[in-house]
Amino acid sequence: MAEEKKKLTTASGIPYVEHENSMTAGPRGPILLQDFILHEKMAHFNRERIPERVVHAKGTGAYGTFTVTHDITAYTKAKIFNKIGKQTRMMARFSTVGGEKGSADAERDPRGFALKFYTEDGNWDLVGNNTPVFFIKDPKKFSDFIHTQKRDPRTNCKSPTMMWDFWSLNPESLHQVMTLMSNRGTPRSYRHMHGFGSHTFSFLNAANERFYVKFHFITQQGIENFTDAEAVEMKGKDPDHAQRDLVEAIDRKDFPRWTLKIQVMPEAEAKTYRWNPFDLTKVWPHADYPLIEVGVMELNEIPRNYFADVEQAAFAPAHVVDGIGYSPDKMLQGRLLSYPDAHRYRLGVNYEQLPVNRCPFAVNNYERDGAMRLDGNQGSAPNYFPNSFDNIVPDPAYKAPGQELDGLFADWYDRNAPGEDDHYTQPGNLFRLLTPEEKRDAIHNIVGAMSGISGPKKDEIINRQLCHFFRADIQLGMSIASGLGVKVDMPAHAK
Ligand code: HEM
Repeated sequence: MAEEKKKLTTASGIPYVEHENSMTAGPRGPILLQDFILHEKMAHFNRERIPERVVHAKGTGAYGTFTVTHDITAYTKAKIFNKIGKQTRMMARFSTVGGEKGSADAERDPRGFALKFYTEDGNWDLVGNNTPVFFIKDPKKFSDFIHTQKRDPRTNCKSPTMMWDFWSLNPESLHQVMTLMSNRGTPRSYRHMHGFGSHTFSFLNAANERFYVKFHFITQQGIENFTDAEAVEMKGKDPDHAQRDLVEAIDRKDFPRWTLKIQVMPEAEAKTYRWNPFDLTKVWPHADYPLIEVGVMELNEIPRNYFADVEQAAFAPAHVVDGIGYSPDKMLQGRLLSYPDAHRYRLGVNYEQLPVNRCPFAVNNYERDGAMRLDGNQGSAPNYFPNSFDNIVPDPAYKAPGQELDGLFADWYDRNAPGEDDHYTQPGNLFRLLTPEEKRDAIHNIVGAMSGISGPKKDEIINRQLCHFFRADIQLGMSIASGLGVKVDMPAHAK
């Protein structure tokens, strides 16, 4: 049977016939003011762009399923993990960080790894990266840092001088800089990288015992990276290669999968562990906290409409569900505020009602009105609390136990104070773990990137950054210095 023909209509549903020719006085014009369809077309088009994400603007997304394979109920009562075999629908968005919406997927950059799990206790967002650490450990530095990854205010070009100036003045960035400058800074595709929650979160079990936890999503496709030369070539050949790769893999039913593993630290150990477990520039070595398997995430559905489901997706680290909590990590704390604020600006106050963000389970609250309220505004239900009419009650079962805090209030606590200022051991260990080929590539990439430093402060910035590399590993420092043509006398103890 032939498909029923649909009538062409205005946005208000009025059928009309002339879509291509404007209404004119005579065949040669001018155009009549009454052609409101022309106005509607042009006015809608003029408003098609919304602000791109201030970071992570270029990205791609897919829907999928999370399946529990191992029992972790000893650590958390989160319902998503409460039964082996349990499946939860989820959505993932992968991204680069610094580039604009049209920038190339193969840029040297961390990759965003943002997940939304539609659990029966509400949406849980885990908004991580493909790296377990980050460049800074205090949110007050974030906008300064990001400015160095964006465009120079005068030249409107990316500036290696700004980047290395900032990194060299913030030695806590070294761990992430080492990762970024290794070939992990240019993953071959979004399927071929791990994902990390990066921050320390907390778990609460049914007995309300608290554990600290880190989330690791281990790619089942295996890690595959571009060399710098391959990445540069790909940027020119296909700036959307990672977007295309994900769509094509899912279209051919080669569904990408990641194994979720966790590291768990009992609450009491956080006080005595040799690394501050809430410092986002440090990892917990696996020898201290081994990986525990939890389940599998599979991406198996490309959204039908990119704008509706990917551009309008809003992920917020603040959105944790019962059984999962925050930690004192200052970066996490800063992000709790930042994301919903960004969403209200980027998408509007009712962004939670957009289909991709909407909780598929009950939403009962007293928020009303506002731009683009799409859900009937909760009808005639009471809009205040407490009231004598509805039966919405806060459920005490969701109350989390108190958490002990220590220290005095102060606005000057310095995360780089003694005891917090070892910025070199872990980046040095990371370098020493690389294979000889990986070391060669990382050094090549660093030398290439630092060669872009220019201007009157060039030598000062290079020398300051070289000191950091030397402090992490002598061989690393010497190789970069020699690559840059900087003459350094090898310290006697290292000869
Ligand atoms: C996106 C702020 C640190 C991962 C964003 C956005 C903002 C932001 C405003 C855009 C949100 C939107 O418009 O939807 C911050 C601040 C940070 C911080 C203030 C530090 C204080 C981090 C860290 C990670 C991270 C440490 C990873 C471990 C992401 C990801 C996205 C994102 C993956 C993209 C989410 C998506 O796909 O929609 N960030 N960020 N950010 N951020 Fe951060």
